[in-house]
Amino acid sequence: MVEKIIVGKDWKDLRKFGDKGTAFIGKHVVGKGEEAHLTNPVLMDVSRPHVILLCGKRGTGKSYSGGVIAEEISRLPSDIKKNISVLMVDTMGIYWSMKMPNEKDAELLKKWGLKPQGLKSARIFVPKGYFDEYKQSGIDVDFPFTISVGELTAEDWIVTFGFSMIDDQGILIEKAIEKVRKEKGNTYSIDDIIGVIEGDDETEKRVKYAVINRFRAAKSWGIFEKEGTRTEELLSPGVITILDVSHYMRVSESWSIRSMVVGLLGRKIFTERLKARKIEEYSQITGQAKKTVPMVWIMIDEAHQFIPNKGFTAATGPLLTAIKEGREPGISMLLITQRPDKLHEDALSQADLIISHRLTSRADIEALRSIMQTYMLEDIQEYLANLPKTKGSAILLDDNSERIYQIQVRPRFSWHAGGSPIIIKKKSLLKE
Ligand SMILES: Nc1ncnc2c1ncn2[C@@H]1O[C@H](COP(=O)(O)OP(=O)(O)OP(=O)(O)O)[C@@H](O)[C@H]1O
Ligand SMILES: [Mg+2]
Repeated sequence: MVEKIIVGKDWKDLRKFGDKGTAFIGKHVVGKGEEAHLTNPVLMDVSRPHVILLCGKRGTGKSYSGGVIAEEISRLPSDIKKNISVLMVDTMGIYWSMKMPNEKDAELLKKWGLKPQGLKSARIFVPKGYFDEYKQSGIDVDFPFTISVGELTAEDWIVTFGFSMIDDQGILIEKAIEKVRKEKGNTYSIDDIIGVIEGDDETEKRVKYAVINRFRAAKSWGIFEKEGTRTEELLSPGVITILDVSHYMRVSESWSIRSMVVGLLGRKIFTERLKARKIEEYSQITGQAKKTVPMVWIMIDEAHQFIPNKGFTAATGPLLTAIKEGREPGISMLLITQRPDKLHEDALSQADLIISHRLTSRADIEALRSIMQTYMLEDIQEYLANLPKTKGSAILLDDNSERIYQIQVRPRFSWHAGGSPIIIKKKSLLKE
């Protein structure tokens, strides 16, 4: 029997659970260049909370590998799966195709002992304002996504609009939110906020209009309602939830809108999971099982846009909290980025597993080196340089075993839309 390489588990878990609760992400690559061949299967723990950094140059297989991890979670045995949910923040609009089988790689999949298969447990949420447009273009979206205006803080708005807490606009927003809250409680609309600002006689007109214009623009984001999508709806046991926020590509403030959404979700998920942890512990003690939101894997593509190394976004605080303190409430993070060097250093330093596809920029390789310097005797650069030229080859750094592996990520059994955006327009493909 071929020995399995298990990463991300400490020895206690390894002894107790073996390969239970792991994801088959690929195979170990042995040998260099032409000589390279695939050997032992590589299994990555998904049963405990992790922070995983998934990086690599453009087109090297990052988003694809993110999809592999989601697929693996979806095919865990049901007794494990019922305790896990996955939320994929899809910034590029590429994960909707996971519902369809990867027929075009049927031959390749066969070699890996796999068959093309659509992900039945995937659910796609799209901002409400774009829901019909998606449907009309033939994409099988499931639910509209909304945010309740009352859940956002003054600071969320200020950061999202690119103001600061101490400039005139920031001060006005803070004052307006406070007032609207006093009058309406937590249920109010953007128009209510605009109404309060219009009625403010102490602030200069110029400032008022600048702020009102931003709030009017926010209305067109198609996402705000008095009632927001509930967190439990996004975190269903055993379900891969894809939140497609790619539509904002068209607007100039695209990253700030997405950051606001991600920041709010990060905050809500953290609170929900803290609550759930208490209930779970209580159930353990008393033996009374109660329903809670499951542990969650948050997968974020282009993560450096949300938690950048320099400056901050509306998502920075909540995501860093989840990254630094998410172990206890059971929150795992998969951070995907082209540029590890551009990612916040706290996110880098918390990563306990790193999957890096080909990288060539010195600064990015340095960033990896700086995380794993304590045990990295071997040279990361050399490992990266020796990777086979195949798509999906990567190095895998495991903080638990303090080891480094060269791997080939397995082919996807569900359809990956990343490489070919044109298929979005081909309705015929969607019907296959
Ligand atoms: N493990 C793999 N096995 C087979 N093909 C792969 C694998 N990984 C990636 N590919 C191929 O490479 C293409 C590019 O991969 P992917 O979309 O994941 O790139 P990326 O690193 O996310 O790029 P970008 O930075 O532009 O987002 C895929 O469309 C697929 O055809
Ligand atoms: Mg990608």
